[in-house]
Amino acid sequence: MPESAEPIADPGLPAHEWRPTDVDERQEKRAERQVAGMFGLSAICVLLFLISYFTFDIGDNHSTFAGFGASTVTLGTTFGLALLFIGIGIIQWARKLMGDHEISEMRHPARSSDEDREATLAALNAGLEESGIGRRPLVRNSLLGAVGLLGLPAVVLLRDLGPLPGDVYDDEDYPGAGLERTVWTKGMRVVRDVVGTPIRAADLEIGDLVNAVPEAFYEVDEEGEHLIEGIELQIAKSKAAVIVVRMEPDEIIPGEGRDNWAVDGVLCYSKICTHVGCPISLYERTTHHVLCPCHQSTFDLADSARVVFGPAARALPQLPLAVDDEGYLVAQSDFTEPVGPSYWERG
Ligand code: FES
Repeated sequence: MPESAEPIADPGLPAHEWRPTDVDERQEKRAERQVAGMFGLSAICVLLFLISYFTFDIGDNHSTFAGFGASTVTLGTTFGLALLFIGIGIIQWARKLMGDHEISEMRHPARSSDEDREATLAALNAGLEESGIGRRPLVRNSLLGAVGLLGLPAVVLLRDLGPLPGDVYDDEDYPGAGLERTVWTKGMRVVRDVVGTPIRAADLEIGDLVNAVPEAFYEVDEEGEHLIEGIELQIAKSKAAVIVVRMEPDEIIPGEGRDNWAVDGVLCYSKICTHVGCPISLYERTTHHVLCPCHQSTFDLADSARVVFGPAARALPQLPLAVDDEGYLVAQSDFTEPVGPSYWERG
């Protein structure tokens, strides 16, 4: 210790009292079992997490606890408790079992002397010794086991990174399932969103833009139940929503192979921005530009919805239109390219 070092003046604290676990071996053993019990509970919670993960399907809205998805509740609760029990165990270990010696700090120059450094190292080693990690195999091993198991949830959650888009659903799931398809099929009517009424080209004025969806969203079975409903409807709508615009036919610059995709100046495009998927909405009828409100990508609807401004990397997919026997607008087919963000451009 340098000569200038002085002990801090005694602030008058009460005399140190030893803890029960310092003076009573039975109490010490009891505390040791408590700590190990906390680590054991943590391990059980991790096992329950794994069981929950494989028991409740993510996205299963039928299994619920108090209105919340069973998967969300059980995964969150079990993993949260696993962390909590480890935390409680470590706190109890520190409070009841680790060394409880009072020390006096010495004042010293900013740079520690070599002696002080060595003393610090010795103190660290003494601390390790006092923690009892070497002498208490029950605590040490239960902690190692609990902490080791904590990695397992991360490993099983990796499973949720797959499968690749497009293979997510089987054909049997529901119409338009999967990321590469929508519910649009040949001959399906284009109907107004919200009200579900079919549209004739003559119903639209030059410059009009209407939000539309496939008629399938309004179809019901013999008992009056919607064929597509609930979360399936939400997913289907997030891909199949379209905008229908009418402009002077001679203003349209048809894309390659798209000469017959318009009906009397009526064009139909995906409503889902190809940047990151916002619904586009703001239409400027004189320029035929439609603007995405999220990051201002702008598409020219007269020119195959090519990008004229903004971060979107590709045009809005176009839905080829025709008319049915009653003169209503129908799709010639599904979209010929995937809708939505330009994830599809990768690779
Ligand atoms: S989502 Fe449309 S511009 Fe970003």
